[in-house]
Amino acid sequence: VNSLGINVDIISEAQPFESQVHHLLSKQWTAGPVINGVALFDDLFQANDVHIETITAPYDRRIQVGSVAFASQAHVTAAITGAEAAFPAWQQTPVTEKAAMLEKLADLLEQHLAEFTALCHQEAGKTIHDSIDEVREAVDFCRYYAKQAQQLTPQTLTSFDGVTRTSTRQGRGVFVCISPWNFPLAIFLGQISAALVAGNTVVAKPAEQTSLIAARAVDLMAEAGFPAGVIQYLPGRGTDIGHALTSHPAIAGVAFTGSTPTAQRINITLASRTAKPVPFIAETGGQNAMIVDSTALPEQVVRDVIRSAFASAGQRCSALRVLFIQQDIAERVITLIKGAMEELNVGLPYLHQTDVGPVIDSNAKQKLLTHIEHMSQTQRKVAQLPLSRACAEGDFVPPTAFEIDDISCLTQEHFGPILHIVRFKASELAQVVERINQTGFGLTMGIHSRNETTYRWIEQHARVGNCYINRDQVGAVVGVQPFGGQGLSGTGPKAGGPHYLYRFTEQHVTEQAV
Ligand code: SER
Repeated sequence: VNSLGINVDIISEAQPFESQVHHLLSKQWTAGPVINGVALFDDLFQANDVHIETITAPYDRRIQVGSVAFASQAHVTAAITGAEAAFPAWQQTPVTEKAAMLEKLADLLEQHLAEFTALCHQEAGKTIHDSIDEVREAVDFCRYYAKQAQQLTPQTLTSFDGVTRTSTRQGRGVFVCISPWNFPLAIFLGQISAALVAGNTVVAKPAEQTSLIAARAVDLMAEAGFPAGVIQYLPGRGTDIGHALTSHPAIAGVAFTGSTPTAQRINITLASRTAKPVPFIAETGGQNAMIVDSTALPEQVVRDVIRSAFASAGQRCSALRVLFIQQDIAERVITLIKGAMEELNVGLPYLHQTDVGPVIDSNAKQKLLTHIEHMSQTQRKVAQLPLSRACAEGDFVPPTAFEIDDISCLTQEHFGPILHIVRFKASELAQVVERINQTGFGLTMGIHSRNETTYRWIEQHARVGNCYINRDQVGAVVGVQPFGGQGLSGTGPKAGGPHYLYRFTEQHVTEQAV
């Protein structure tokens, strides 16, 4: 078991799978908009007014992975018009048929595990463990929402007066789904599968960094039987097509996962439309804290801190950013964290021994390095891993920990492998929770304490969506830990939870008098 708790033996025994993945690492991929079932790449590749993006591997920028033709505003119009035209027939399609297509899609994803693993390495820089988890989570979303869709069949309401009343839920229309690069398959398909099974048609814009993974998922959707037109795929930059998508009068809702500032911009755009108001489902960032009191078990704390802060190179919205440790045990725990950090392997994502891969792109790397530089000048650096020569050509950021004066030193989320540590006195616990709440974010919180009064008190006073006691704070499982935040961290409903599908529907209640 490696330092992130990953059972590497299980992976290394799967030789055929591994060689399949390695074989696929040299494949070149292409993607372009898919409008009404027609994949556009070759034509666009010839056109001179289209932006063709060359995709390179985050762990080595000399390696070309493929090319993507980015959508233009004309594609936005065509995609929304196509999705509108496909809506009436899709809305009438029985929910059982839609759910069966999602189940089929889940089967296909499982069959293509090696291909998506290779793509996750190549395009997103994900480690073996994270790539397999990624496909697993996408499968879970498809199967979970397929099951949850049973709630959407007409229901007879409880009657107190003998009159029959029926509740029916229907899709709203064209949903715009905008997904992030950190879960390029799972969240991409999580949003789409919910919107579709609830009866909407979809225009999907993946993060520009991970368009190839999303394009392969859209290919499989066609194979799973989703009719052309119900899913319109638009790779592109948010700055080029985001506004055109969210300001379009014909859309019926937006599901967005990404940064808080982008969610705020979309919210303004939606609010300024003169067309009908539409729902906005946003899952955004966090300034996630963990509070550790003196009754906590230090070894357990260290294991959970390392995983929460550094797994996935810290590129999870749930990841730990600020660790609060009670003064009495701080020195010991910080020493242990330092030691555990030294055991982490930073390197090429497709190697078994790698715990921490690259960050997504040079822009992210630059921002994180600037933050490290600033913190190094103003706060106390606790540990920083040296990067090996294997990292020289990629966008790697050294896992780094700082002791800082307070969470208020951080004015924004730093989306990478950087941990901030604050010591507190037992008497300051209430202020610690208050200062965490004051950030306005409210996504995840970790608590390590063996004192039930303490952890219950913290849990009840922390304004967060997901609270984890005596464990790590990442890796919510679909259907098990419905996931999503409060305040600046999102609007809800929680993804992978029982209320998610409802938000994508309109409810009609019918009462027939005798
Ligand atoms: N759902 C993911 C997690 O729980 C989001 O980052 O880690």
